[in-house]
Amino acid sequence: MKDRIRSHWNTRASGYDKNVRHVIFFRRDKTIWQRIFAEFLGGNRHKILDVGTGPGIVANLISDMGYDVTGIDASERMLAKARENSATLHNSVELVLADAEKLPFSEASFDAVVNRYVLWSLPDPKSAIAEWHRVLRPGGRLVVVDGNWYLGSRDKPWTKKMWALISSALAEWRWPDDQSTNDDGWRERLWSSNAKRPEADLEILREIGFKDIAVVADLNRKLLTTLDYLKWGHSGDQFLVTGVK
Ligand SMILES: C[S@@+](CC[C@H](N)C(=O)[O-])C[C@H]1O[C@@H](n2cnc3c(N)ncnc32)[C@H](O)[C@@H]1O
Repeated sequence: MKDRIRSHWNTRASGYDKNVRHVIFFRRDKTIWQRIFAEFLGGNRHKILDVGTGPGIVANLISDMGYDVTGIDASERMLAKARENSATLHNSVELVLADAEKLPFSEASFDAVVNRYVLWSLPDPKSAIAEWHRVLRPGGRLVVVDGNWYLGSRDKPWTKKMWALISSALAEWRWPDDQSTNDDGWRERLWSSNAKRPEADLEILREIGFKDIAVVADLNRKLLTTLDYLKWGHSGDQFLVTGVK
């Protein structure tokens, strides 16, 4: 499964970068996302690990805020995009090829571990989060941003079902490479396609021993304008979960 997932992200690296780079290159998006991370990272968390950094989105956002950032990813092509983006923005971000579940760092090496849109596509979320807990120093904070992307129309009110229908058509057009690499249905077999989130995430954080666990259940409200919805449809409810070691 991991090889399947890595090959998906290698195929998508260039298209994905084009779709999300506005977050680090456009002031409005950058400000919204930096505010979200500032709320949870505070001023005294210096050394931060961005797991599944992709084209270096969160890594560059928080490097710009003055943090000392390391980004890891399992896809060489995503890391190449992250290097390009960091160079264009003149940010010094350390980028390392590594597996989210087997980090090449010793215990208690980071003040915070962050990630965005990564947990859903990991085969074993509990083992990944336990590994992130290991590299956090005592008192360090985990911040996970993710979304219910591929839950289909289960548990959704009719308005969201309608958006989901429109969105799948828009997604074909917006992310043709995303649709074509799901030919064997690997996404539907992921834990996240069959879990109630963020409740499942919170339960994992509790089991691993995080304290001060909190959730922002409706991040879409902070992130998306009505115009965004009209342009892109409803691609999924986004949320943030956080806890302290
Ligand atoms: C949807 S992208 C998110 C990229 C970026 N965090 C962002 O905010 O846009 C998911 C990323 O997770 C990475 N990834 C998936 N499985 C991984 C693993 N086991 N170890 C490290 N990175 C992984 C992928 O290569 C991809 O770059």
